[in-house]
Amino acid sequence: MEGKFIVFEGVDGSGKSLMARMAKEYILEEKGYSLDKVVLTQEPTNSFFGRQARDLQKTDKNPLKNAEKCFDLYVKDRLNHLRYLIEPALQMNKIVLCDRYKYSTFVYQSLQGINEKKIIEMHETMRIPDLILVFDVRARIALERIGNRGTLEKFEEKEFMEKVSRGFSGIKIHFKKENIKIIDAEKPAEKVFEEVKKELKQII
Ligand code: TYD
Repeated sequence: MEGKFIVFEGVDGSGKSLMARMAKEYILEEKGYSLDKVVLTQEPTNSFFGRQARDLQKTDKNPLKNAEKCFDLYVKDRLNHLRYLIEPALQMNKIVLCDRYKYSTFVYQSLQGINEKKIIEMHETMRIPDLILVFDVRARIALERIGNRGTLEKFEEKEFMEKVSRGFSGIKIHFKKENIKIIDAEKPAEKVFEEVKKELKQII
């Protein structure tokens, strides 16, 4: 069995985190991997940088503020994540399921005003995932789902979320050589997961 790096992306409320958890269960139960061979992780992480990014997001209500600072923190957090968790796990032939990766930076931080080319350049040396699943939902539906979870954070304002949602829908244009699959995530979870399973079967 060979290591694989699989990324789950989408706007807040797209259901990506649920799909990542379901994917983990599926790989363990139906694909027969042992618990130590499957890693479920997320960005921002709990590192010093990741925690700062999260804090900024909680205290700062305007999505357009602190763009450079956010960008810097997300990139540093990702480098740290790759170095200490993702790369070592892949070297041990593990399956790494990662909730958010560079595509989130591309969508959110370019909307915050960071140059797209600069974002791409900062990620040039970072590992390209074996599979990127992008959960595609309209902002209205995502907001309904988040609404049921409680308080809103800075990137959860309707107009901004519409832009984020469109950003993810069109993400393939910016990463043409990468294995990105856009998944219709407006359907019920079991139906969405059928699509996820189809894609997982191609690589695992
Ligand atoms: P989210 O997955 O919603 O975390 P939580 O489990 O705390 O709800 O991610 C937190 C937010 O961080 C989300 O609104 C998107 C934002 N984000 C960026 O803006 N850029 C990035 O590179 C990453 C990884 C996240």
